[in-house]
Amino acid sequence: MSHQLALFGHPVTHSLSPKIHQGFAQQFSLDIEYRLIDVTNDALHRRVRQFFENGGHGANITVPHKQAVMAVTDQLTDRAQQAAAVNTLFKQDGQLWGDNTDGDGLINDLQNKNISTKNQHILIIGAGGAVQGILPSLLRAQPAAIYIHNRTQTKAQTLAATSSRCHALNENEIKQPFDLIINGTSLGHQGKSPELKPSWIDHHTTIYDLTYGKAAMTFLQQAIKLGANNAYDGLGMLHHQAALAFYQWFRHMPTLNYERYE
Ligand code: ATR
Repeated sequence: MSHQLALFGHPVTHSLSPKIHQGFAQQFSLDIEYRLIDVTNDALHRRVRQFFENGGHGANITVPHKQAVMAVTDQLTDRAQQAAAVNTLFKQDGQLWGDNTDGDGLINDLQNKNISTKNQHILIIGAGGAVQGILPSLLRAQPAAIYIHNRTQTKAQTLAATSSRCHALNENEIKQPFDLIINGTSLGHQGKSPELKPSWIDHHTTIYDLTYGKAAMTFLQQAIKLGANNAYDGLGMLHHQAALAFYQWFRHMPTLNYERYE
């Protein structure tokens, strides 16, 4: 019988997750069925419980339910607790666990691309759910400092208050070039990008967008125009977070082979 997996979110239609996880499953000759479940906030609790009561093996959670789903879980892993968000559900000893593999997925992708975080100065633009989810993992990766810049400054201040190595900055306070600049805003989904100032970037600055494909284009192109040599979208992070989720479900760590999953 195939292992039942699902992604709960709204919307979920364009997700690459079914393909990615089918590719992983093939590596271990596992039979899986990965469904996309478009669900509203009101129905989330019931649908998730139902899925696991009916034999569901594991699930991913995406926007906008990563915070709300915490109320459905019996236990949270340390990294889900720190991120205050859940993107992966798995069963263990009859209990429903919530985990968050987004942050460690980002770190694994950065490592894979030889982008160092240790002792680096990192600027994050945005202070919404996506940034909240990756911040604990980035802090564990020993940066010199993380600066958070957001349209709504109070949200940047709230996130920055979680660590002495984190600072909220408004646009006028940002002067120096950074080692790594991460776009964590949702602007790319509207074909837009947060503005980058020339002084924030020099030839060694790495640019990373947490979104991938078309949504990341405007930001990455802007950065390249300003002289950045290395600019990446979040496709690698998507694959790495999926691999860590797959490991929670099957205790097998898949090998990433991008061409095969796209
Ligand atoms: P997600 O879960 O994708 O992170 P979110 O929690 O709604 O979504 O966060 C969206 C982020 O994009 C926030 O940092 C938001 O800035 P605000 O906190 O000021 O709302 C940012 N964002 C969205 N639209 C924006 C815009 N037009 N200009 C600047 N920032 C924007």
